Amino acid sequence: MTLLGVNIDHVATVRNARGGREPDPVAAAAIAELNGADQITVHLREDRRHITDRDLRVLRETVRTRLNLEMAISPEIVKIALDVHPDRVTLVPERRAEITTEGGLDCRKFSLKLAPLIKRFKEADIGVSLFLDPDLKQLDRAEKLGADMVEIHTGAYANARTDKARITELERIDAAAIKLEELGIRVMAGHGLDYWNISPLLKQVLVEEVNIGHAIVSRAVFVGLGQAVREMKDLVTGKPGVDLNEAPF
Ligand code: PXP
Repeated sequence: MTLLGVNIDHVATVRNARGGREPDPVAAAAIAELNGADQITVHLREDRRHITDRDLRVLRETVRTRLNLEMAISPEIVKIALDVHPDRVTLVPERRAEITTEGGLDCRKFSLKLAPLIKRFKEADIGVSLFLDPDLKQLDRAEKLGADMVEIHTGAYANARTDKARITELERIDAAAIKLEELGIRVMAGHGLDYWNISPLLKQVLVEEVNIGHAIVSRAVFVGLGQAVREMKDLVTGKPGVDLNEAPF
């Protein structure tokens, strides 16, 4: 059964809009866990636009499921990660000007940096996932680099505007997942997934875990975070009675 990682970055975005303490991503993590999240995911960006060092440290103390830290391969963040010791790191590309993580990490280009880094995290008993586009050459390199997991970037699928484009993107993701399975690498997926596009993805592709943020936090504004997480969890686990062709509302 597919697991649900809930990304709570945008709870911190709302908090930071006023520079105060509310809403606290630490409380959000607890509510998400109580409502079925299998993992809490946060991205400590170099510009600290949402999650802060304090959030990460407190979450390390309070998260009871699993803490997944998305991070750029910058020396400053690597040092923090080794110190805070999340259960897993997901290595992502990061550009300061981007609104969100726009593409997968180019693990071929950054092989020389990544190889010792992955080794270091593994020696520290921190799982390593690479956030990659569904590009078979990238996946081959991920295996050579010793990655335990790959999170397939689903942004192109989420952004596809026609059925034809959606089918093409689903096929690319499926081919990537099959390849990862052959390589013995665990398959995760994320970015841009929502209440409408999750089921077609999971019907076609065997995925161990999805990481979903913006859609859940957006829905939480209207229905509350607990309900938003429960509804996504029902879709992700294919709960009996939930029509996988329909969002649950
Ligand atoms: N997975 C990764 C690696 C990401 O960088 C992000 C965005 O922070 C997500 C998942 C979640 O994306 P979204 O907020 O679009 O659900």
